[in-house]
Order: sequence, then C-alpha cells, then structure tokens
Amino acid sequence: MTQTPMPMHTDPNETVQRHLVWRGWLRLAHWSMAAGTLALLFTGWLIANAPSVADHAVQDHYLAAYLLLGGLGLRLWLLLRGGEVERFKTLLPDLTRTHVMKDMVRFYISFGRMPLPRWYAHNPLWGPVYLLLLLALVMVAATGFAQQQWPIVYGFYLPSMHRWWADAIGLFVIAHLLAVVLHDWKGTACDVSAMLSGYRIFVIKRIDPEEIVGTQRISVEQIARPSSRDPD
Ligand code: HEM
Ligand code: HEM
Repeated sequence: MTQTPMPMHTDPNETVQRHLVWRGWLRLAHWSMAAGTLALLFTGWLIANAPSVADHAVQDHYLAAYLLLGGLGLRLWLLLRGGEVERFKTLLPDLTRTHVMKDMVRFYISFGRMPLPRWYAHNPLWGPVYLLLLLALVMVAATGFAQQQWPIVYGFYLPSMHRWWADAIGLFVIAHLLAVVLHDWKGTACDVSAMLSGYRIFVIKRIDPEEIVGTQRISVEQIARPSSRDPD
C-alpha cells in the first residue's frame, strides 16, 4: 500500500494522507461493469420501447453484454484470488461495524446533514449490496444468453426473469450514483476520483505528545495492515 503525505493542509491538528485502496484490476473491473451495465440498460430500454431501432439495439445489447461479462468475470476472479480489499469476505456484512452502518443510515435520512462516517475501502453498508449486485449481474447474463433458445426453464419464463433482474439493477444504479455523489460531496475522501486514480484521501488527527500517558504496545501486523482498521 502506498502512502503520500500532502503538505498543503492548513489545520495544524490534522494531517492528510493519500492511500492506494483500489488496485488497477479492481478499477478495470468496475469501469467495464459500469460501462457495460449503463449500455445494457440503454439498449434494453430501446429494445422494449423503440421498435423502429430494436434490431440494431439487440446487436448493441450483445456487444455491451461482452463488455459486462469481461468486467464481471474479472471481478468474480478477484473475489476469490484478489488482494485484501477485493476478496469475498470484505463484502459480507461485518457485525463489528454496525455503528458505522447506523451512522450511514443517519447520514442518508438527514439528506447529508449528519456527519458522514469514515471507512477504509468498501463502505460497510454498501458492501453486501455490491455482493447482491454481482449475483444479479450473473442472473441477468445467464437469462440474457439463454432466453431465446430455452424460454422456459423449470417453469420459469426467462424473458420475464431477465426483465425483472434488469429492473432491479436499474434501481441499484440510480441509488449507487446518488450515494457516491453524496459521499464525494459531503465527505473528504474524494470517493469518485478514487475509483479513477485508486487513491482515497484520509484526514487524520495528529496526536499531541502531551496527551500520551503511558506506553501503548501494538504489533507489527497492526502497523502493516491498516486496511482492516478504521482510519480514525
Ligand atoms: C458511472 C458512474 C459511477 C461512479 C462515479 C461510480 C463510483 C463508485 C465508487 C466511488 C465506488 C466505491 C464506493 C464505496 O466506497 O463502496 C464504487 C463501487 C462500486 N460500483 Fe460504482 N460507480 C459508477 C457506476 C457503477 C455502475 C453502473 C455499476 C454497476 C455495475 C457499479 C458497480 C459498483 C460496484 C460493484 C462497486 C463495488 C466495488 C467492487 O468491489 O467491485 N458502479 N463505484
Ligand atoms: C449480460 C448479458 C445479456 C444478454 C446476453 C442479454 C440479452 C438480451 C436479449 C437476447 C434480449 C431480448 C431481445 C429481443 O427481444 O429480441 C434482451 C432484452 C432486454 N435486456 Fe438484456 N441481456 C443481457 C444483460 C442485460 C442487462 C445487464 C440489462 C440491464 C441491466 C438488460 C436489460 C434488458 C432489457 C430491459 C431488455 C428488454 C426486455 C423487454 O423487452 O421487456 N440486459 N436482453
């Protein structure tokens, strides 16, 4: 993990650090899935609502499907074999961090007036939602490829299932975009550009040596693995 101290910060009690949290492979997976999904939502809408261009839209829908599949395949591989913040377990609900999840809910229901809590890589409230999204993307891809050859499987009508999962993903995309813009706007971590550059910004309180009474022991592992801890 890379740390870059930044000297321009003005509050003498705080310091600012940039940490590389999103590796290139995760960013590549994210943007392939994002671009593929947005194109699939658009071409899917054309297929359903614009009969005059539907034939062309089907071809573009398949092209976008391969972009999505590339990103999704890479992301699923990272779930199993990726770095520390990319693995499956980091997207599971973490019951030791329910206080951060509650603060996130307060932040949303106050429309950003309550403080945004801090976190390291994945937002603890959204992690499990991302896991469900990956499942939804697998389902929409499977029903998309299978629906024309096998429209009915075990009594399920695949075109309706495809439409159902596509609508659920559409809702996720709206909520996701609102959330990441709100986090970027009200927070200090520069979340959106972090998904481009890989670096999040952490504002850290300096410790006054006068306040330190006694000696605290911490292990080398704790210093070397800040990603498993809150930055605060
Ligand atoms: C186009 C504008 C988009 C922007 C600016 C954006 C931005 C972001 C940001 C900042 C995060 C990190 C959030 C966090 O702290 O947890 C994130 C995560 C994520 N986003 Fe997006 N996103 C966009 C579109 C999408 C779309 C369309 C999808 C649908 C596939 C998507 C799927 C995800 C997933 C699955 C994650 C979790 C990262 C991972 O572990 O793979 N994003 N996005
Ligand atoms: C990833 C692989 C995918 C494949 C192979 C695929 C394939 C297809 C096919 C063959 C159709 C029917 C076209 C026709 O009626 O001639 C269709 C329709 C549609 N797809 Fe996909 N699709 C995929 C992913 C997605 C995704 C991710 C979304 C949105 C999130 C989506 C949204 C839609 C919509 C809204 C329709 C129109 C349904 C209707 O007519 O009511 N698809 N797709």
